Amino acid sequence: MKNFKTAFPYPPSSIPNLAGKIAIITGANSGLGKENAIHFAAKGCKVYMLSRSVAKMESAIQEIKSKTPEAQVEAIQCDFTDMDSVVKATKAFKAKETRLDILMLK
Ligand SMILES: NC(=O)c1ccc[n+]([C@@H]2O[C@H](COP(=O)([O-])OP(=O)(O)OC[C@H]3O[C@@H](n4cnc5c(N)ncnc54)[C@H](OP(=O)(O)O)[C@@H]3O)[C@@H](O)[C@H]2O)c1
Repeated sequence: MKNFKTAFPYPPSSIPNLAGKIAIITGANSGLGKENAIHFAAKGCKVYMLSRSVAKMESAIQEIKSKTPEAQVEAIQCDFTDMDSVVKATKAFKAKETRLDILMLK
């Protein structure tokens, strides 16, 4: 199993206050994406995680909220190999938000 605590590409302490910011992080239910989601949420960012497995996203959201109870994190199902799914996910995001501050593509 990879050690994401040591493999994390930048020190989490370097992340600025992200209160009021809105991010999409793809592949955020595991690995590096989840670590970024944890740290962004802890800095006040509203995080939308996009990946295929709703169950894995729900589990990741539980983990994030166990670390940051006030975390704003939502799941949007998306399979990036399926353009219909990408369009559906885009519409789901645009129905909820009018802007995007951070896009992290994994
Ligand atoms: N881990 C490291 O230390 C490290 C270092 C440098 C580079 N990288 C690179 O970074 C990438 C991610 O690494 P990782 O270890 O974080 O991977 P990972 O734990 O396997 O995560 C992959 C993520 O992508 C999602 N995903 C996969 N296929 C998808 C699809 N078709 N549509 C939407 N979501 C999809 C998965 O969720 P679902 O299964 O729910 O879709 C999961 O959340 C890899 O390319 C890796 O080579 C990793």
